[in-house]
Amino acid sequence: MNSIVTVTGKSDFGDICSLSFNWDITVGPGQFVMVWAPGMEEIPLSLSSVGDVKSVTFRIVGRDTEALRKKGIGDSLSIRGPYGNGYRTDGSRRVLVVGGGIGIAPILPLMADGFDTALAARNAGELDFALPAIGKAAGKTWISTDDGSRGFCGNAVQLVQEILKEQEYDEILACGPEVMLFFLHKFCVDNGMKCQMSLERHMKCGAGLCGSCMIDDKRVCADGPVFTCDEISGMKDFGHSKRDPCGTRVLFR
Ligand SMILES: Cc1cc2nc3c(=O)[nH]c(=O)nc-3n(C[C@H](O)[C@H](O)[C@H](O)COP(=O)(O)OP(=O)(O)OC[C@H]3O[C@@H](n4cnc5c(N)ncnc54)[C@H](O)[C@@H]3O)c2cc1C
Ligand code: FES
Repeated sequence: MNSIVTVTGKSDFGDICSLSFNWDITVGPGQFVMVWAPGMEEIPLSLSSVGDVKSVTFRIVGRDTEALRKKGIGDSLSIRGPYGNGYRTDGSRRVLVVGGGIGIAPILPLMADGFDTALAARNAGELDFALPAIGKAAGKTWISTDDGSRGFCGNAVQLVQEILKEQEYDEILACGPEVMLFFLHKFCVDNGMKCQMSLERHMKCGAGLCGSCMIDDKRVCADGPVFTCDEISGMKDFGHSKRDPCGTRVLFR
């Protein structure tokens, strides 16, 4: 579905920006949309809130996110979607949600649903955009930073190990940089825990047609972006390589 929506709210946190809009459509946590406005190419962004008011929260990393940040209240956006399979939660499992860096944005709807959450970032400033959600969280929340400027000093996987000394969970739901997901997935496999993780690959159509987002034989846009532990275990490219916009394979460094 393609809709034109009007920006009704905007927050800036350094190099991270949130835009809110009214969009009368049902979206699940972990689903994404293709966002376009005049002056930019269309880009995929996950929904960072999925209630009556929807929002996208993005880090400014290049031309299109810079152009999107210039949009303000009253401006129009073209929103295509929602696309992909989000996180599956049925209440039967004890779930720990884990977000790293800007990968915290897509898991904010799960926080709003009351799941216990572990948030990891490089430093305290990178967590500022999540503070309003942390303040309202009904579940337990833990924080880590690489430099120790807020919460536990360490990375997301080390934080999860600390949490599991005191708490029991059946499944981890995660979003973050692929290096974080790679080691978190290994931790889950080694410890017999289930997991669901949201992956990213270069997207053009967003709707399962063009093949630009393939990881092994899976289309991240249509078969994911959220994949189970077992699906990820079967992906040779996971943590190793991805394709650039021209389809050339590039290795993660
Ligand atoms: C399913 C999905 C959900 C995403 N959700 C978020 C989100 O909630 N918040 C957020 O900050 N970012 C999110 N991203 C990443 C976001 O799409 C890119 O940061 C954005 O497209 C960068 O565009 P740019 O022109 O500013 O930067 P560029 O300079 O064009 O690119 C910078 C980097 O962004 C990535 N990128 C660029 N274009 C695409 C594309 N079409 N598809 C995938 N990756 C691309 C590449 O890794 C590239 O190296 C998501 C990506 C995917 C695939
Ligand atoms: S982006 Fe076209 S198939 Fe996934």
